[in-house]
Amino acid sequence: MRRAVIVGSGSALPVRRVSNAELAETVDTSDEWIVERTGIRFRHIAGEGETTASLATDAARRALAAAGIDASAVGLIVLATSTPDQTFPSSATKVQAALGIDDCVAFDVQAVCSGFLYALSVAESMIRGGTADTALVIGAETFSRILDWEDRATCVLFGDGAGAVVLRAEEGDRGVLSVSLHADGRHNQLLYVDGGASTTGTVGKLRMKGQEVFRHAVVNLASVMREALERAGLTSDDVDWVVPHQANRRILDATARKLGLPAEKVIVTVDMHANTSAASVPLAFDTAVRDGRIRPGQTVVLEAMGGGFTWGAAVVRL
Ligand code: UT7
Repeated sequence: MRRAVIVGSGSALPVRRVSNAELAETVDTSDEWIVERTGIRFRHIAGEGETTASLATDAARRALAAAGIDASAVGLIVLATSTPDQTFPSSATKVQAALGIDDCVAFDVQAVCSGFLYALSVAESMIRGGTADTALVIGAETFSRILDWEDRATCVLFGDGAGAVVLRAEEGDRGVLSVSLHADGRHNQLLYVDGGASTTGTVGKLRMKGQEVFRHAVVNLASVMREALERAGLTSDDVDWVVPHQANRRILDATARKLGLPAEKVIVTVDMHANTSAASVPLAFDTAVRDGRIRPGQTVVLEAMGGGFTWGAAVVRL
């Protein structure tokens, strides 16, 4: 059976790292509140010249190097972002140009924090269908540019960054085993940006009713993980690692508990990166590959939930 196999990963963070204490100098908050309610200690904030596409390109280069694959072999780039460099063209085409790829399929996917799961699903289907043999799947964001820095309930939660994986077509039993995706547009007003090209003509700022998002997140994530495992013919006992969307330490703990998974199997990077939306799953994945926790042969569940609402999970054998 032709499957899409993750053969390399990479990530990139802006140079500037901001601690909770540094934020508390300009925002009415405290290190104690942020750590206790979210687990976040640091986030990286993009500076001048650092953009979604530049971070995505750095992450993609590292993923290709890890895979030992030349950029010229890439036939497909799917980039998940809600903070593109321009309204159009896509940030994926900027990455393509920066990597010096003359011709390939390249486009962006927008599903906010679930974007990487959506992008992975699209790329995996296209690989199985024969559109490409090698794909770059990227999650990249600069949420710092759409935050209301006067709203302490949201601005302390997010950070910037990018993560990427290289998918390659292979015959066999490793690769993406299943993906489950969902959306429920009735919840638009719980997590949204109050601007857009077709409405205000502005980019807008992020707005969130955190407590209600929290409640939905735990329920939806536990159920979509169960669904993805079932589709793969596996149970939580077969899982080596869960790589969750890094929104809040309390959500990660509660979701793992619901599935009966020990906390030691959950990759946590929210303390170092905060919530980087579509970048958070591939960033966390790459962190755990590079520190030696995630290894070939293991079974990994990726999961995320975000604005829309959208949510999803994927089961991957490495
Ligand atoms: O990535 C997409 C998915 N997003 C999420 O999953 C986010 C989900 N939500 C959350 O993570 C949590 O709901 C938050 C971290 C956003 C908030 O935690 P909470 O425990 O739900 O706090 P809360 O909103 O109920 O606020 C509690 C108190 C309030 O004060 P009062 O009304 O009790 O006096 C807030 O004004 O904490 C106050 N507060 C803050 N205090 C210090 C809110 N933000 C801050 C802050 N620093 N930054």
